Parts: sequence; structure tokens; C-alpha cells
Amino acid sequence: MSDTAARKKVLVFRELPADQLALLQAAHVVTVANPRIATQKAAFDAALPQAQGLIGSSYPIDAALLARAPRLEVVSSVSVGVDNYDLATLQSRGILLCHTPGVLTETTADTLFALLMATCRRVVELSNLVREGRWTKNIGEDLFGTDVHGKTLGLLGFGRIGQAVARRAALGFGMPVLYHARHAVDMAQQAPELAGRVRHAALDSLLAQADIVVAALPLSPATRGLMGAREFALMKPGAIFINGGRGATVDEGALLQALDHGPLRAAGLDVFATEPLPPDSPLRTHPKVTPLPHIGSATHETRHAMAALATRNLLQALAGQRPAAVYDTQAR
Ligand code: DGY
Repeated sequence: MSDTAARKKVLVFRELPADQLALLQAAHVVTVANPRIATQKAAFDAALPQAQGLIGSSYPIDAALLARAPRLEVVSSVSVGVDNYDLATLQSRGILLCHTPGVLTETTADTLFALLMATCRRVVELSNLVREGRWTKNIGEDLFGTDVHGKTLGLLGFGRIGQAVARRAALGFGMPVLYHARHAVDMAQQAPELAGRVRHAALDSLLAQADIVVAALPLSPATRGLMGAREFALMKPGAIFINGGRGATVDEGALLQALDHGPLRAAGLDVFATEPLPPDSPLRTHPKVTPLPHIGSATHETRHAMAALATRNLLQALAGQRPAAVYDTQAR
């Protein structure tokens, strides 16, 4: 696109791979400024009023910020989750929201399963024992883990990522799988490989039966604080809790209580209510918690695929075409 009239103002608010940035720069006038970086905040604020397209992730695009962007036509998120965006304002102003479903499904399911395995088998804790020179005798029962194969898995959320975790559990580890979701999935149609291996369950029933509960939930008004004191109290003694969806779907105080005085044996957490996790959070060093720094989709291949899809979405939207992955802001 060489016509200067067709070149639009794009604000990149989190760094993109060089090849994707070059695609944007070939078509539009691009400013790169990450408002989380103190030295770039002024450039971000200066570019926002002119911006017709925004692309990035991990920064709240709220009503106050959108009010400073009167020319905005499209926001392209380099994420599948859209909880950082004020959906009502985007909807009322007719600003398109794009995201990156699909390309991160298997990688995020790999992360969740790795965290599940690490938590059940105490991989990080026992590796640290070796690294710190504390492996001076055979480990005893106090450091044994708990089996994964054959255990009952309870999945909170059964979208693409939940289903990918279910495949690993049911087909790879012989685990009976229960899932809780707003609607039961027609397995024969949507996931025939899981038919007969996975069952829809009410939340309370799932929590009472599962040995391992994995949360893979988006954050919405319906899921915020879904796991609270009542729900943790319903879990089996010795159960394991894994969260790879969004931190705020869990009441972290109730989780700590369930670890210290309730039924939970351990928790593996890739997401937290506040990220990065504040240094004084008890979850950071709790002996029963395996924490990760929100790495669900963080592989070279997948982060590049996400950036490429987000870039394509933005270019298509600014060219007046229907982008590959538009989020329906009315969906909630
Ligand atoms: C997503 O894409 O929503 C992942 O959680 C990374 O932010």
C-alpha cells in the first residue's frame, strides 16, 4: 500500500516480532510504545489520540484509555483472553476487537499438563532439593508425590484449551474426565475422540469427585471468583488444584485457606489475580504452591503465531476487510 491517504496510524503497545512489525510498517504509520515501560509512556500517550489501530497485550484498555483514542477503529489483542478490554465501550463505539484463538491451544494445554505433572510429582520442589545440596539420603514418604495416571480429572471450562487438556488426560493418562461448562458439549460432533471418556458435571458434583481440578476459564462476570471458600471445601481430601485460565476466577485468600487448613494437598498456578505476582504475595513462596509466571502460550513458535494472527487481523480490519478472528463483544 503506497497511497499515503490509505496509511493509517497504528500504535503497537507491546513489542512485536521484527517480521510482523515490518508488515505493519510497510502498510501504515507505526508507533511502538509500551506504556508499561516508564520511558515509553509519554510516547504512548502522545500517539493514542491519533491511533486508528492498536495492537498488543497485557495492558488494560479500559474506558478511560479508550476516551483518549477518539479515532480508534480496531484493537487487535495478541492474546485469546479479552479480559483486559472494556467490551461495553468497544461495543458502543463500534470498535472492532480481534484476538488470537486456536493458535495457542495445544501449547497452553501442554503448559497446563506440565504444571499438573510437576505439582502432583513435586518436580520443582525435589529438583531444588538436589540443586541446593540437600539430597543426602533416599527421600522418604514425606516427600513422595501423588499419581496422575488413572486419577479423576475435573476440568473447569471446556473450550478449546479445556478439550486439549482432556485429550491429554483421557487418551494419554487413562484418566476419567469430568468437565463443568455452561453447556454440555456434543462429543460425537465436536470431539469424537473423547466420546464416552468425558462427562459433563455440575460444579459441586465435579469438585466432590475429582482428584485433580484444572481451571481453564476465561475471566467474565460469570467466572470471577468462581472458586471460593465454599467450592474449595467441597474438594476431596488430598486433591490438587491447577489454574491456567485467569487468576481472578479464584479467591486467592480462600485458596490459601484450603491449602493450610482445608482439603488441598497442593496447587499449581500459572495465573494470579495480580500479575506480575506481588513480591509479598504468600502464594509466591507457599510450600504447597508451584507458581509459574503466566507462561501458558510462551513458546517461540506459539508467541510468533499469535503475533502473526494479531497482525493479520489488524491489517485486514484497517483495509476494511473482515478479520480472521474477531471477538464478539456482545458474547457475554
Ligand atoms: C491469552 O492469550 O489469553 C494468554 O493467557 C496469554 O495472555
